[in-house]
Amino acid sequence: MNEKKEVGEKAVDFVKEGMVVGLGTGTTVLYTISKLGKLVQQGFYIKGIPTSKQTEKLAIEVGIPLVSFNEIDHIDLAIDGADEVNRELDLIKGGGGALLREKIIAKAAKNFIVVADSQKVVNQLGSFPLPVEVVPFGFEMTMKHIRELGGSPKLRQKNELPYITDNGNYIIDCVFSELKFPEYLEKRFNMIPGVVDNGLFIGMADIVITLDRDKNITIYK
Ligand code: A5P
Repeated sequence: MNEKKEVGEKAVDFVKEGMVVGLGTGTTVLYTISKLGKLVQQGFYIKGIPTSKQTEKLAIEVGIPLVSFNEIDHIDLAIDGADEVNRELDLIKGGGGALLREKIIAKAAKNFIVVADSQKVVNQLGSFPLPVEVVPFGFEMTMKHIRELGGSPKLRQKNELPYITDNGNYIIDCVFSELKFPEYLEKRFNMIPGVVDNGLFIGMADIVITLDRDKNITIYK
């Protein structure tokens, strides 16, 4: 069974005609976007707002009309994947490097749905290294301050060069032996000069679509 496809496509049930939909990034929400594209081809009318250049390209390929922030005053629904999700619906995101735009769109959305295969569901957040988006200027110093919060920071690389986000920034992946107090940490990271945002999404998700042990679709609210 392709779990990502199951949960990704299920999210389409929540999309209603005329909605402005925040389109997430990654290999799970890809199935949501592809299915929405098929519906649009059949005359279903929605507008999408993408969380990354990668998703923008995909949405254009599948034919979803896109809008930008200067054309809308709200987003009805955002749908996105996650790297980890707990039973409180708190998340770690940013494995694909798109956390900043994802958080801006999730925050702007009236409802935020997460699509996550069963491997992503954890009792406690923190096995997945926490991605932190930082500006390149002085990033070595920013890493030092991040280390003081108890994590082991590592600059994300691609082809032996720093990975660059859609916003021209770097990503620091932070390994924690135990990620305690995620709500505090989400705010605390963002107080470090040079940090733009981090991959903790606390209290933002309204619904998580996943699968239970028997591989049945399960919805956490
Ligand atoms: C992108 O930066 C991430 O936040 C993704 O949403 C997350 O990594 C989930 O991706 P997959 O669906 O590919 O696992």
